Amino acid sequence: MKTIAVAIDGPSGAGKSTIARAAAGHLGFVYVDTGAMYRTIGLAVCRAGIALGQTERIQSVLDSGIQVSLKYEQGVQHVLLDGEDVSASIRTPEMSKYASFVSAVPAVRAFLLQTQREMAKTHNVIMDGRDIGTVILPDAEVKIFLTASAQARSKRRFIELREKGEDVTLEEVLADMKQRDHDDETRAAAPLKQAEDAILVDTSELTLEQSIAAVEAVIRPALEG
Ligand code: DC
Repeated sequence: MKTIAVAIDGPSGAGKSTIARAAAGHLGFVYVDTGAMYRTIGLAVCRAGIALGQTERIQSVLDSGIQVSLKYEQGVQHVLLDGEDVSASIRTPEMSKYASFVSAVPAVRAFLLQTQREMAKTHNVIMDGRDIGTVILPDAEVKIFLTASAQARSKRRFIELREKGEDVTLEEVLADMKQRDHDDETRAAAPLKQAEDAILVDTSELTLEQSIAAVEAVIRPALEG
């Protein structure tokens, strides 16, 4: 079967996952959230008692035979660590830091690459991440770089975290986000950058509905062609 792949990359908090999930639902694609996979490795590393920055200890976790897999229930992605559903535990500010930490390690990226490519071979996917259009699926039929100003992104993330009962301030969220942007953009392994053939969608001034419509408007011509 010839599959169609849509790659959506961009910084954290641009609304990638919400927008990609909605567009996938409307268009009948499988949504693959690769950030969740990095978060899951981050969780495994944290559980192994490894502190942020102890890069040299990460390989032992990868070698211990951990399995990161995706499962879909009513179209909703769940991420499993050795069969345990960790979808909720990976959504904390601490796991954001661990995810960013482990994602800079080439061995971690190599560990997840095959699973991600395999998903795109077997399904029509909308895959979001940082290096999907540049590294994972360079031949994706559609590439979108989804972004928004740091202010707009941190405000959204702040509201999301407060709704979940996390005790954070807007200043902390903005500072964390700027740090993560910097780390994601400057790391040597697959840094966040817009693919040359990606279409830029800036959601700073858009509502969620407008952002979804903008992304779907970019994807639809590829489905007809
Ligand atoms: O999208 P997110 O916030 O869940 O991503 C968590 C971290 O993982 C983030 O710091 C960037 C990193 N990541 C990555 O390096 N490559 C991807 N394809 C997806 C996420």
